[in-house]
Amino acid sequence: MKTIKVGMLGFGNVGTGTYQTLEMNRELIEKHVGASVEISKILVNDVTKPRQVVTPDGVLTDNVADIIDNPEIDIVAEVLGGIEPASEYMLKALNNGKHVVTANKAAVAANYDKLFKAAADNDVSLRPEACVAGGIPILNAITTVLGANKFDEILGILNGTTNYILTQMTDNGLDYADVLKDAQAKGFAEADPTADVEGIDAANKLSIMMALAFGHYVHPDDIPTEGISKITKADIDKATADGCKIKLIASAKNEDGKLSYSVKPVALPTDHPLASVSNEFNAVFVKGNAVGELMFYGKGAGPLPTGSAVMGDILMAAKEIAESK
Ligand code: NDP
Ligand code: HSE
Repeated sequence: MKTIKVGMLGFGNVGTGTYQTLEMNRELIEKHVGASVEISKILVNDVTKPRQVVTPDGVLTDNVADIIDNPEIDIVAEVLGGIEPASEYMLKALNNGKHVVTANKAAVAANYDKLFKAAADNDVSLRPEACVAGGIPILNAITTVLGANKFDEILGILNGTTNYILTQMTDNGLDYADVLKDAQAKGFAEADPTADVEGIDAANKLSIMMALAFGHYVHPDDIPTEGISKITKADIDKATADGCKIKLIASAKNEDGKLSYSVKPVALPTDHPLASVSNEFNAVFVKGNAVGELMFYGKGAGPLPTGSAVMGDILMAAKEIAESK
């Protein structure tokens, strides 16, 4: 059986979850692909650091050329984080004819046109499913099986860390700073959690979703964005007294080609469908002109849910390669 080789950039929360997903379900995944799949090289900062998962000798490297310039590697999975050098590495990999899978919404939202153009120019795929809403397959849904629709609206809870913080503050009266630390320990938060709590991560995700659903790219800096860092216990208590829950809502509307969009905390009545989305769970509501209203729900952050999304995109890229050979 042919072997499809994957080079992974990063072996933190998401890299580890991706590796574990392949190890856990290898037989099933390889049956779908029709070839064996091997994560043969992984880029890290420090090859000597103790890891949660032990890899065979020679897999870890601190030299990116071992992956992006390696003719044996078919697919690059980028799970480093940060806009640079991740964008530069993805562009090089695409220009070297490799399919690229990524969970890095900051890099994709900042360099959307450049990355997709490089993929098209080199006749390879760029697959960003894990960038938005962790394990929820929303991007593949809107670009494939829902592709016959014009979308009027996208709305949702797109950040697991802030939803976890708001849930724990509301339901258990916990302190903002303590819950943020807990979210970091559970592997939900960004390396710099400012992106989570200030709404920047949700704006990155909304930017990617708008580009794919509406065919119109808006830079995340141009999305009016307010986070949850200023939400106090008094705000939570007032919302509770009013029969509401505060949620960080990302929303976009397309009314006859005129787009409106924002990320901001909203007090939702407790009987609103999004009010019961708790902890690291996300939910995405989309409205298409043929399908009507749809709601997607699942874990929006964490190593295994995100690893599932990264591995799903690797599976599809590997299948494409296996079928073309
Ligand atoms: P981590 O900080 O846990 O892991 C980052 C990994 O990348 C580490 O293994 C680190 O190496 C390596 N790394 C970072 N920069 C470099 C570099 N310049 N050269 C070599 N290695 C480098 O991040 P996460 O796994 O949490 O997140 C990764 C990406 O996935 C981010 O883009 C994030 O936004 C996205 N994402 C995260 C989710 C989550 O739930 N955590 C969910 C969905 C998307 P070392 O280990 O040696 O330090
Ligand atoms: N930090 C992000 C979140 C990870 O909490 O939603 C998933 O994209």
